[in-house]
Amino acid sequence: MTERQISQAVIRRLPRYYRYLGELLENGVERISSNDLSKKMKVTASQIRQDLNNFGGFGQQGYGYNVKYLYTEIGKILGLDKTHNIVIIGAGNLGQALANYAAFERSGFLLKGIFDINPTLKGMTIRDVPIRMMEELPEFVQNNDIEIAALTIPKTKAVEVAELLVDNGVRAIWNFAHTDLNLPKNVIVENVHLSESLMRLSYNVNRYNYFNAKE
Ligand code: NAI
Repeated sequence: MTERQISQAVIRRLPRYYRYLGELLENGVERISSNDLSKKMKVTASQIRQDLNNFGGFGQQGYGYNVKYLYTEIGKILGLDKTHNIVIIGAGNLGQALANYAAFERSGFLLKGIFDINPTLKGMTIRDVPIRMMEELPEFVQNNDIEIAALTIPKTKAVEVAELLVDNGVRAIWNFAHTDLNLPKNVIVENVHLSESLMRLSYNVNRYNYFNAKE
């Protein structure tokens, strides 16, 4: 299939399809109609059909979707059929929490290295991965086919460290530092802001009061 432009909104929904289909598979479900999937996921059936049509559509009229096939195909679209080598930069609270989270490995994201500037962390290991000092980073990244770097360092350092990573061949940054990185267009950046998610939650908790107060 030739590559086509797929909207970011669709891409954002794919991991959720993947998760639901994975659960169906675990429960031994072999096929599912878009209507049943729609009820489960609380998304309209037409949205599901439209989303999956972006990739050529996987359903058959009157049969529904083959769960295993759809799960596998969405996994391929998301690049989960391959392994991806990751490093974490910044072994503080957040970096250590990410490093301790073993479930990434199950999706093919392999933690290869953890880096920091704090010498007291040197040699400490998290799930058998040693924390290394930043001086070792360029050579390590070049020699270990590192594709993705998670940035969990203070925002004042994020830009220069991101540039160092990219100069040494890293293609994607999972950016937790609260700053824009402005990297070349061919570098993929995914910004993660838990506080924004919390603000959305707060909006939903609060909106009833806000709009009632306006009336
Ligand atoms: P922390 O202070 O516990 O850890 C930061 C670590 O980075 C320290 O170990 C420090 O030695 C290391 N570091 C500093 N400069 C460095 C450099 N140039 N190269 C390599 N390592 C360096 O902080 P915490 O709580 O882990 O937060 C880390 C970052 O993540 C902060 O920027 C924070 O604002 C951000 N954060 C973002 C969240 C999000 O949802 N996006 C949530 C929580 C934190």
